[in-house]
Amino acid sequence: MRSITLIFILLVAALPAWTQSPHERSARMGVGINFTYLDNWWLGKKENNYADFLNPDAAKKKEAEFANIARAGFKTVRIPINFGAFANYKQPYVWTSQPGLEAADRFVKAALDAGLIAIVDLHHVEMDRSIKAADSTERVAWIWKELALRYRDLDPERVFFEIRNEPHDIEARAWRKQAEAVIKAIREVAPKHTLVVGFHDWNSRQAMIDSKPFDDDNIIYTFHYYDPFIFTHQGATWASPGLSDMKGVPFPADGKAIKVPEKAAGTWVADRIAAYGDEADAGRMFNDLKAAKAWSEKHKVPIFLGEFGSFGKNASLADRCRHAEAVYSALGRLNIPNAWWEWDQGFNMYDKGTTSIAPCMQKAIDLFTKGRAAN
Ligand code: BGC
Repeated sequence: MRSITLIFILLVAALPAWTQSPHERSARMGVGINFTYLDNWWLGKKENNYADFLNPDAAKKKEAEFANIARAGFKTVRIPINFGAFANYKQPYVWTSQPGLEAADRFVKAALDAGLIAIVDLHHVEMDRSIKAADSTERVAWIWKELALRYRDLDPERVFFEIRNEPHDIEARAWRKQAEAVIKAIREVAPKHTLVVGFHDWNSRQAMIDSKPFDDDNIIYTFHYYDPFIFTHQGATWASPGLSDMKGVPFPADGKAIKVPEKAAGTWVADRIAAYGDEADAGRMFNDLKAAKAWSEKHKVPIFLGEFGSFGKNASLADRCRHAEAVYSALGRLNIPNAWWEWDQGFNMYDKGTTSIAPCMQKAIDLFTKGRAAN
């Protein structure tokens, strides 16, 4: 009897650890949210490599939010981190900010302790693009090799690595080469963790549709969707000229003319204003997301909408909720896991003056689960 038990124990020990496919992992992601703070490089000074954006005490306080995110019903948290501010720029590369790395470690741990799936996202590695080679392939691959070593013992079922947020000002082919180098660097040390990979042109949906998957079968492909942009970014100072002067743009379009801000005359923003009647429409947005889903089905790879949302400064909550409903209901019907941008800064879902999710936003989020269940 004892020998049978022993044989059984030996057999179980010899089995390979049970690993889910990226399809199964993405199915568990469900509704998610971005948790920002470690990406806020612009609050730092260039002469300090921007690393002084980090206030370790403030970061520590922020850790409590992961439990709040889980309590609010989110299953996944994407953690944008500006690791680029924590390392030097010339070879041999070295980490220059231990507090930065430690804050990142603690965020990931807090997410896991809260029962969430955590995406470690290398965000804004190019910062304001004024630092040469900040986003060179050598540097990004070095960063990832280090991070993969750092995080490889964390549960691959719940920790995914997003290799680079919104690559831009880089040709499709150059991005592909960089991504391949990064994937290789990670795979040398962390073969089991799912990678989250998007494409050039700011992780746009179209860039994904125009591209082919990579030669690695453990990737979830990501894209961002902020359409209609003049709705989601009205009041924003960091995007295109003129947007900061836009206010009260409704969703959906109500047929009334929208004034073109002076700074936007003749620009892409002016074109979006002219097309707003067609673009601010739930049916059209559903079709956009359906095209992303069709790409995933064609290539038999899972996808994840890593950023969508609306800036709250100049938009009414009622309009923002209608926009959120349009996106969440499409995501549910198409079964696309996602992460709203973001939890507690300017794109938050709170009722004004509170830190509670507004009921109309909650109703929008619930459309995801309902849509998915009806599939
Ligand atoms: C950027 C943020 C910005 C957001 C919406 C993100 O990818 O990192 O800085 O607020 O997009 O524009």
